[in-house]
Amino acid sequence: MKQIKNICCIGAGYVGGPTMAVIAKNNPHITVTIVDINADRIAAWNDKDLTKLPIYEPGLADIVKETRNKNLFFSTDINKAIDQSEMIFMSVNTPTKTYGKGKGMAADLKYIELCARTIADVATTDKIVVEKSTLPVRTAEAIKSILHNTGNHINFHILSNPEFLAEGTAIKDLLNPDRVLIGGESEEAIESLAKIYESWVPKNQIIRTNLWSSELSKLTANAFLAQRISSINAISELCELTGANVNEVSKAIGMDSRIGSKFLKASVGFGGSCFQKDILNLVYIARSYHLNEVADYWEQVIIMNDHQKRRFSDRLIKTLYNTVSGKKIALLGWAFKKDTNDTRESAAIYVTDHLLSEQATVSVYDPKVSSEKMQSDLNYLNTRTEDENFNLVQTVSNPYDAVKNAHAVAIMTEWDEFITYDWEIIYKSMKKPAFIFDGRNILEKSKMEAIGFEYHAIGQ
Ligand code: NAD
Ligand code: UDX
Repeated sequence: MKQIKNICCIGAGYVGGPTMAVIAKNNPHITVTIVDINADRIAAWNDKDLTKLPIYEPGLADIVKETRNKNLFFSTDINKAIDQSEMIFMSVNTPTKTYGKGKGMAADLKYIELCARTIADVATTDKIVVEKSTLPVRTAEAIKSILHNTGNHINFHILSNPEFLAEGTAIKDLLNPDRVLIGGESEEAIESLAKIYESWVPKNQIIRTNLWSSELSKLTANAFLAQRISSINAISELCELTGANVNEVSKAIGMDSRIGSKFLKASVGFGGSCFQKDILNLVYIARSYHLNEVADYWEQVIIMNDHQKRRFSDRLIKTLYNTVSGKKIALLGWAFKKDTNDTRESAAIYVTDHLLSEQATVSVYDPKVSSEKMQSDLNYLNTRTEDENFNLVQTVSNPYDAVKNAHAVAIMTEWDEFITYDWEIIYKSMKKPAFIFDGRNILEKSKMEAIGFEYHAIGQ
């Protein structure tokens, strides 16, 4: 088995950063260098002020403090880091394609291919190349083809080692993973990677499969998780019409050990950079093999999620006497879930866009998301001009400013601090009747009603 002394990780994002920090922490004898083409991101990772790290994750700053410039390095010198390492993780983004064949469905693999080509160009010694990004099944075939045809007699072994961390709990998930999955063809390469994880993960939780099972397991895991959310969200709509309460239904079914209680929280709809992208990709792959029933089955998870987001804003508008034109709606939360500054595919973006199209003005507060990010998320949709978005959306740094004179408050993210706000003060500062639309079911209906609010939750 090859002893790994130097690791390079290409991609200093939400996965590369935390994952490598935890590998470095648990393997002080290995030097880990994370590289990225984004110089600003690397500078932020190197910032002395740990509050300026590009990613907010509970517990991350402590590990970076402990390891940075000891055995964890952040750099833009990609070629040097590749050449000096025996193992290279590819942890670059694989977003949904926005152009050409597969637009809006397939994963865009241009970044991963560029990584493989760079490795092929600059490597002068044998390498183990690890797919850490989430990739369509059989991507390793293309990577092998690029790496094995350089003509420079260097041996490359490809492994698939998908990452299962969730944002907001990334460090906890990395330190105590349910399992680590390694797919590959070379037993020696697999064992070299397994040894790194064995520094802190129990051996029986490190599982080995073939390359294709490993690649497909990642898409499948995300599809199953998202499917549970769409399933409970589908039931939430039925609850609203029948007097059933989705929280009670969720509890009742979740206590069946065959079903389990996790990922059954009804919400305004799932967001994040993974679920939608990975299911669309799964649907695209199924269709490319002419498996239309399989594709339709999984596509429904996305259709249901889009419906849930739309349903939330429709219900708000309908309740506000069928118009929000000229009304102020306060949004609490912009991140796609609590404890992260990530906003990719956040339901808040789509709900805001819908409300703006109905001529509402929107004020937003999020404890970790900057005003610039909120505006750029809206501008990315291209629904209206940047100036219009800027004028219609007020982004504030104090939640009590967001709600002042608002006709309604919409809770978009389940940040803990929202629960402990002084809701009496909020009530007094709002227009009456004062409405709450709780997209996360985090507030207590009876308490809110006792204050005077008209309270609407999901599935109740
Ligand atoms: P990200 O966008 O946060 O980070 C990717 C980084 O790669 C960016 O900083 C980008 O500049 C860099 N990059 C792109 N091409 C490069 C190149 N050729 N050379 C050097 N750097 C390059 O993305 P992420 O959220 O970390 O996701 C990375 C992968 O991990 C994706 O495939 C994603 O599906 C998967 N994943 C993400 C999560 C998550 O929670 N975010 C969890 C599991 C798996
Ligand atoms: C997900 C997977 O959980 C993780 O294993 C994978 O590696 C990456 O994708 P992430 O998107 O970071 O992680 O967060 P997750 O906790 O899965 O939440 C995704 C979305 O679903 C969020 O918007 C969250 O609020 C929502 N959600 C989650 C619900 O609406 N209800 C639930 O019960 C759980």
